[in-house]
Amino acid sequence: MTQSSILVTGGAGFIGSNFVLDWLQSSQDSTRPLINVDCLTYAGNLKNLEGVATHPGYTFARADICDRERMDELLAKHQPRAIVHFAAESHVDRSILGPEAFVETNVRGTFVLLEAARAYWNRLSEQDRAAFRFLHVSTDEVYGSLGAEDPAFCETTPYAPNSPYSATKAASDHMVRAYFHTYGLPAIITNCSNNYGPYHFPEKLIPLVITHALEGKPLPIYGDGLNVRDWLYVGDHCAALRLVLERGRPGETYNVGGRNERSNREVVETICEILDELRPGSQHCPHKQLIRFVKDRPGHDRRYAIDATKLERELGWRPRETFSTGLRKTVEWYLDHPAWIADVVSGAYRKWMEQNYQDRIEK
Ligand code: NAD
Ligand code: DAU
Repeated sequence: MTQSSILVTGGAGFIGSNFVLDWLQSSQDSTRPLINVDCLTYAGNLKNLEGVATHPGYTFARADICDRERMDELLAKHQPRAIVHFAAESHVDRSILGPEAFVETNVRGTFVLLEAARAYWNRLSEQDRAAFRFLHVSTDEVYGSLGAEDPAFCETTPYAPNSPYSATKAASDHMVRAYFHTYGLPAIITNCSNNYGPYHFPEKLIPLVITHALEGKPLPIYGDGLNVRDWLYVGDHCAALRLVLERGRPGETYNVGGRNERSNREVVETICEILDELRPGSQHCPHKQLIRFVKDRPGHDRRYAIDATKLERELGWRPRETFSTGLRKTVEWYLDHPAWIADVVSGAYRKWMEQNYQDRIEK
C-alpha cells in the first residue's frame, strides 16, 4: 500500500471525535495521518478535538458530504487508503420533528460520498484499489424493534426500520451494499448498538440525564420507561471499528454491541445513584426525586439487542468496559468537564429542548 492516510467524515461529532482522538493519540508523529471532514452542524464541536488540533498527522476540512466537488477535491488531495463514514443526522427525536435533513445527509450525502469514493478508487493502482476500504458506520436501529423474548439482532436479521432516522440509515446501508456488489468498491458496514461516553451531545438520554441532574432539572423518561437499549462504551465501538478497518472482509456486515441490555428506567436510576455517591452534598440528592415520566416518543422501538458473535469470532473483538465501569467513567467525565457542558448547552440547544419537551406533559 502506497498511501497511509485515512479520511473520516463526521469526526467532530460524538463517536467520530472519540475515534479521531483514539487514532491520533496512539501515535505522536505523522505516520498515521487523518483528515477529518465535517460541516459542523449543531452536533459537530471542534472543542472535542482540542487535544489533537496541533498533532502533525491531523487535518480538519470543513465540508459538507453532499458537496461532490469538495469530496472529489479532498480525496484527490489527501489520497486516503480508507474512508470511515460517520457523518449523519443521528437523533431519532429530531428525525420525527424534521425528517428532511436526515434524507439529505444520510441518504443523499452517503450517495454523493460513494460516488466520489468510486471515482477516486477507480483511478488508484491495482494494489491500492485492493487495499482501499470504505467503512460505513451504521446502527442497530435498521433492524427494527424486538419483543422481550426475541433473539438479539444478527447480521442476517431482515431490515425493518421504524423512524425516519433509521429508515435513512437503512437506505444508506443498502446503497453501500450495492456499491460493493455492483462496482466492487471494497465497502464494509458496521451496525452498532447505543453508544455512551465522553463528548456525547446532551440531547441523547445518558448525557441529558447527567447534565439535567447536575442542575436539578426534571429527568424525562418517555412512556413507561421499560424500553430496552443495548449500551456500549464509545471506546469499545472505536476499537471495533479499527479492527474492522484493518481486518474486516469487504462486502461484509459486522454487528457491534456490548450485551448490556438495560431499560431506560434502570439507566436513569443508576445515573442518579452514581451522582448521589459522587456528589453526596448536592441539594438535589436523592437525584431520583427529579425523575418524571412523560409522553412517549411516537413509534418508540421497544427493545434493541445485538449479537456480536461474528465480530468476536472473526476478529477477536471484546468490549473492555462493562456497563457499570463505563457508566461511572462517563458520569465522572461530565463532572470533570463543566466548561464543555456549558458551551454545548447554549442558545440553539435551549430552543431544541423547548421544542421537543413542551408537549410532553408529565404523566
Ligand atoms: P453525531 O450527531 O454526534 O455527529 C454527527 C457528525 O456528523 C457531526 O460532527 C456533524 O457536524 C457531522 N455532519 C452531519 N451532517 C454532515 C454533512 N452533511 N457533512 C459533513 N458532516 C456532517 O453522531 P454520532 O452519535 O457520533 O454518530 C456517528 C455515526 O454513528 C452516525 O452515522 C450514526 O448513525 C452512527 N451510530 C451512532 C450510534 C450512537 O449511539 N450514537 C450508534 C450506532 C451508530
Ligand atoms: O441504537 C443505536 C442508536 O442509538 C443510534 O443509531 C442513534 O444515533 C442514537 O441516537 C441512539 O438512538 P436512541 O433513540 O436509542 O437514543 P436516545 O438517547 O435518543 O434514547 C435512548 C432511549 O431513551 C430511547 O428509548 C428513548 C429514551 N429517552 C430519550 C430521551 C432523549 C427518554 O426516555 N427520554 C429522553 O429525554
